[in-house]
Amino acid sequence: MMTGLFPVERFKELETPFYYYDLDLLRKTLAVIAANAPEINFHVHYAMKACATPEVVQQIAKAGLGADCVSGGEIRAALAAGIPAERIVFAGVAKADWEIELALEAGIFCFNVESKEELEVISQTAFSKGMKARVCLRVNPEIDAHTHKYITTGMSENKFGIPMSDLDETVDKCAELKNIEFSGLHFHIGSQITDMQPFMLLAERVNTLVSQTESRGVRVNNINVGGGLGINYEHPNHMCIADFKTYFDIFRRHLNLRSDQTLHFELGRSVVAPCGSLITRVLYVKQGKEKQFAIVDAGMTDLIRPALYNAFHRIENISNNGPVDERYDVVGPICESSDVFLRNFDMAVTKRGDLLAIRSAGAYGEIMASQYNLRRLPGHVTSDDM
Ligand code: LLP
Repeated sequence: MMTGLFPVERFKELETPFYYYDLDLLRKTLAVIAANAPEINFHVHYAMKACATPEVVQQIAKAGLGADCVSGGEIRAALAAGIPAERIVFAGVAKADWEIELALEAGIFCFNVESKEELEVISQTAFSKGMKARVCLRVNPEIDAHTHKYITTGMSENKFGIPMSDLDETVDKCAELKNIEFSGLHFHIGSQITDMQPFMLLAERVNTLVSQTESRGVRVNNINVGGGLGINYEHPNHMCIADFKTYFDIFRRHLNLRSDQTLHFELGRSVVAPCGSLITRVLYVKQGKEKQFAIVDAGMTDLIRPALYNAFHRIENISNNGPVDERYDVVGPICESSDVFLRNFDMAVTKRGDLLAIRSAGAYGEIMASQYNLRRLPGHVTSDDM
């Protein structure tokens, strides 16, 4: 499957760098998600942290997805894009008092709670407003997602979630607190997971923990298995929609889900990553002693993933359709030696003024941009604007 050609002529008129979102591909992706998770008790919440660009979130809202938010700012952005409050879940290891108040006032579906201490604060806040807060407990399932160490979350050494050994006590605590309504369990094992086995192990662990919890006389009405489905960064044109079928099937097969229970997913990257590219202009092609550098106007401030996680993003010279037979280091303008997008990478012959597309950057791209070096934040355009 191809993502379609970039509107290069239009791009030439625009100031670079900017993000380009292919909303047609996003709509196709959302249709594939809907087709592969048709059960009424499967609820997909889009993880706002991946990309909160209004035009993108509005499409997601139209497709009927809920939102997984980790800050008051994300709750506001989800609501503004048209996601109803009753489809919003609010996670995060440290929710500030104002964020808890905002979430209660908005009437979100539930809080994913990560500690007993947090449970008490939410309870007090709900009490002061004469409300009851629905909560799911985030449990650390100690499952190795075999992904980058910065984005693995489900291991005992991570700061996330309630240790399994404290679960019973925390469930009992929910029952004691009058302004808390226990509504289920939440998990998330990591991100960019391409091997399906960790999800299978998660499903099995969830079965055990749900039985254990229900044996204490409470019902687990909601099970949230988080996000994490990976995408193919190597071949953005061949696999531009993630394998949602296999992913949902894993839970269908391995989770003992009753019809009175709802299964929640929090997918971020797999929904939006393939739809976004960072478009940048080549400023200089410099011959080094051993290397050739394509120095571009985008840097790690616009897309930090290569510098921070050593992540691979494919780059194409969209101004030259010729053979891909010249080798470059593609680097940014920032005064940091980690400001490198790719080393020893083959592209079509590249010259000053050419436009490059840094692919698969729709997730954790624009949203993680910074102003280091007092640079401007990157802008964005969508295929609907072209
Ligand atoms: N739910 C929770 C509780 C999460 O912590 C995350 C991501 C998600 C859902 C969504 O996961 P996804 O489906 O996108 O994998 N900045 C990093 C990724 C950090 C992910 C953090 N949590 C990167 O650029 O790779």
